[in-house]
Amino acid sequence: MGLTREFKLTTTFIVALAISSIIVEAKPFPGFSHTLSVKLDARSNAPASGAPRVPVAPGGGAIFPITNYGAKSDGKSDSTMSFQKAWRDACHSNGPAKVLVPAGTFKTGEVIFTGPCTAAPITFEIQGTMLGTEDLSMYSQNQWITIEHVNNVIVTGPGTLDGLGASAWKHKDDSFGGGVKLPVSLVFFKSNNSVAQNFKTVNSKGFHIKVLESDNVIVQNVTIIAPGDSPNTDGVHISRSQNVTVADSKIGTGDDCVSIGAGNTNITVIRVECGPGHGLSVGSLGKWKDETDLRGVTITNCTLTNTKNGARIKSYRQSPSLSASGIVFDDIVMNGVFNPIIIDQNYASSHLKQGSNVKLSDIHFRNIRGVSLSKVAVTLNCSSAFPCQGVELVDINLSSTGAGTSDGVAVRSACQNVKPTFSGKMNPASCLA
Ligand SMILES: *[C@@H]1O[C@H](CO)[C@@H](O)[C@H](O)[C@H]1NC(C)=O
Ligand SMILES: *[C@@H]1O[C@H](CO)[C@@H](O)[C@H](O)[C@H]1NC(C)=O
Ligand SMILES: *[C@@H]1O[C@H](CO)[C@@H](O)[C@H](O)[C@H]1NC(C)=O
Ligand SMILES: *[C@@H]1O[C@H](CO)[C@@H](O)[C@H](O)[C@H]1NC(C)=O
Ligand SMILES: *[C@@H]1O[C@H](CO)[C@@H](O)[C@H](O)[C@H]1NC(C)=O
Ligand SMILES: *[C@@H]1O[C@H](CO)[C@@H](O)[C@H](O)[C@H]1NC(C)=O
Ligand SMILES: *[C@@H]1O[C@H](CO)[C@@H](O)[C@H](O)[C@H]1NC(C)=O
Repeated sequence: MGLTREFKLTTTFIVALAISSIIVEAKPFPGFSHTLSVKLDARSNAPASGAPRVPVAPGGGAIFPITNYGAKSDGKSDSTMSFQKAWRDACHSNGPAKVLVPAGTFKTGEVIFTGPCTAAPITFEIQGTMLGTEDLSMYSQNQWITIEHVNNVIVTGPGTLDGLGASAWKHKDDSFGGGVKLPVSLVFFKSNNSVAQNFKTVNSKGFHIKVLESDNVIVQNVTIIAPGDSPNTDGVHISRSQNVTVADSKIGTGDDCVSIGAGNTNITVIRVECGPGHGLSVGSLGKWKDETDLRGVTITNCTLTNTKNGARIKSYRQSPSLSASGIVFDDIVMNGVFNPIIIDQNYASSHLKQGSNVKLSDIHFRNIRGVSLSKVAVTLNCSSAFPCQGVELVDINLSSTGAGTSDGVAVRSACQNVKPTFSGKMNPASCLA
């Protein structure tokens, strides 16, 4: 399965102004019962009498093509202002609105789509390709495209965001924040009930997609590609948000495919194909002083291919006091992963011997199978200051060759500061055995 996989995904917009609300509903796969839906609140819409000033789309709502605002599809001219003006008009229109990037290649610097808006929902439809300028001085807040302080925004394709990251990667991010911060390609900041779907994002300078302080967000059918050796090009990063789902996406980067930071509640990652990259990670936790607790992460039905880590939880050794609980990794296939299952609470080099102050509890690894590229297929290195509580492993079948242990090199588990429970099939054997 790969890019050619056929998605039977339908996104239905039911515009029901009579009840002042718009439902975006997405049914990812036939036979899959879980329906992803975000309720888009259209109560902020101006009265229905406010007629749009621009052409009306066949499906309803005003369309604001960036080319009507002077954008040039030559891949060279700076079209930043055209995007800003198209957004401004869309935002201040009434009812559904769409900012349209037609076929062609458009280059921009930092683009900030800010609210509040009278229009809702607002669709940002990328049919062509957007290029993010290589000139780092054009990004005032280390972000390329930002959607902020505006709810009910749908970013959709089928086009491409190309961050032109190669020239920026030599300025490798300093992990403690002292170095250059490279622009994130697409950021949702304080943007509830929003959707990112059906587009491709490649070669971001920093992270590809970041969801920050935004509730009820869906990222689905997104393809994210950067070289395996590009620094800090995380696929999707989520922090301080609630009810975020990343579904049906293919992510291969130089860092985490998905990273779930502090302050989140109820995050779901489902049917994501990851690789190359550093895996599907909860963390890093405990890097910054102001971090808050993390509760409820479900990562399910995912495949990792040729990645450094698989199901990972990592926290910094020297960290503020916070907790992370209710974390489930279920139904995960490892196609050649160096550390298939790993809790690492000693993350980052620090001369301090002090254990991490991140308290991990209620952690489950279930039905995880495939091939480990290292002999230690299960690593549970918890904090000496706060040993992990309630760690469960069920039905783990990892081998070093994929042919089963009798033929391959035996794999093993390593644990510290944790007393996990084990049940079902267990290869490698319990670290307590
Ligand atoms: C998003 O929802 C949260 C929780 O309901 C709320 O506190 C926050 O103000 C909302 N943000 C915006 C931009 O409306
Ligand atoms: C998924 O996104 C791609 C663009 O990346 C698009 O061509 C395809 O139609 C989308 N699939 C569905 C079912 O919308
Ligand atoms: C968690 O979020 C999903 C959407 O991502 C939602 O369907 C579900 O109801 C939420 N669960 C809770 C307990 O809030
Ligand atoms: C998260 O989803 C649940 C279930 O749908 C809902 O009750 C809750 O209000 C949502 N949280 C936010 C912040 O919107
Ligand atoms: C898991 O994903 C596969 C394809 O990726 C799909 O066929 C299957 O229905 C999915 N199962 C669930 C529970 O989502
Ligand atoms: C986990 O702890 C063991 C024992 O202290 C150590 O040998 C190993 O290197 C640690 N693994 C990681 C990934 O930190
Ligand atoms: C474990 O996986 C191997 C191949 O990777 C397979 O041959 C074996 O049947 C599996 N065992 C169980 C109990 O699923």
